[in-house]
Amino acid sequence: MLGDLLGRSGREAALRAIPELRVTLRLDFVSVNAENASHGFGLGPDMAEALFAAGADVITLGNHAWDRREIIPYLAQEKRLLRPINFPPGTPGAGSAIITINDGRRVLVAQAMGRLFMDPLDCPFRGTAVELSRYKLGHSVAAIVVDFHAEATSEKMAFAHSFDGQVSLVVGTHTHCPTADHQILPGGTAYQSDAGMCGDYDSVIGMSTEGAAARFWRKTPGERLAPADGEASVCGLYVETDDATGLAVRVEPVRQGGRLSPLLPLV
Ligand SMILES: [Fe+2]
Ligand SMILES: [Fe+2]
Repeated sequence: MLGDLLGRSGREAALRAIPELRVTLRLDFVSVNAENASHGFGLGPDMAEALFAAGADVITLGNHAWDRREIIPYLAQEKRLLRPINFPPGTPGAGSAIITINDGRRVLVAQAMGRLFMDPLDCPFRGTAVELSRYKLGHSVAAIVVDFHAEATSEKMAFAHSFDGQVSLVVGTHTHCPTADHQILPGGTAYQSDAGMCGDYDSVIGMSTEGAAARFWRKTPGERLAPADGEASVCGLYVETDDATGLAVRVEPVRQGGRLSPLLPLV
């Protein structure tokens, strides 16, 4: 799972890293959050196509899902592209998908969005519980990946513990900083509060420092935000699951390139 791709720098680093990591880490399944891929705001259909071609099996979005309007009809017909499940009924697209990988195993992927310090939405806990009640990990699906897109670590942890033992992975996205709390929870669900972004870390959560800092110094409107365009660090999470149960047996951070110290699991 790779965290939020940020602008051209993050997008291009991820496009290079996905095919390479698929081989070196012997990955069966790759999910990517791309809500910030288009100049920091949203995702273009052409960019989604490029990520699928590079080896992403599924792409998740978040609060920036609708920033590029052309994505709306694309979302409605591309089942591998997900927006949060807890948007109101009738919202285009879907919040979950079953993806069948090459060897026939089925993976359920879902995304929900938090409500603390975020726009009001339907309940992400109940929405996810309803979706999960339709599947049984290790039986009808080999793995379940849940991207919980949220601001507050408390909400992320509460969410992960609520579904511990029911899913393979709960991974946080949205804050753009990798947390050091990756672990397997007592019930067997892998967890990390935030995967971090794929982007230039000489920035304010991926946006160039000058414009972003000016927003705090001066409260006048109109300070322009643009993605930082230095070398990106690719950040994400590697998870190994037990085929019999679908639960996690190993979870390791992945960090490659750019300013952050590198971390890659030995596989
Ligand atoms: Fe983001
Ligand atoms: Fe976000």
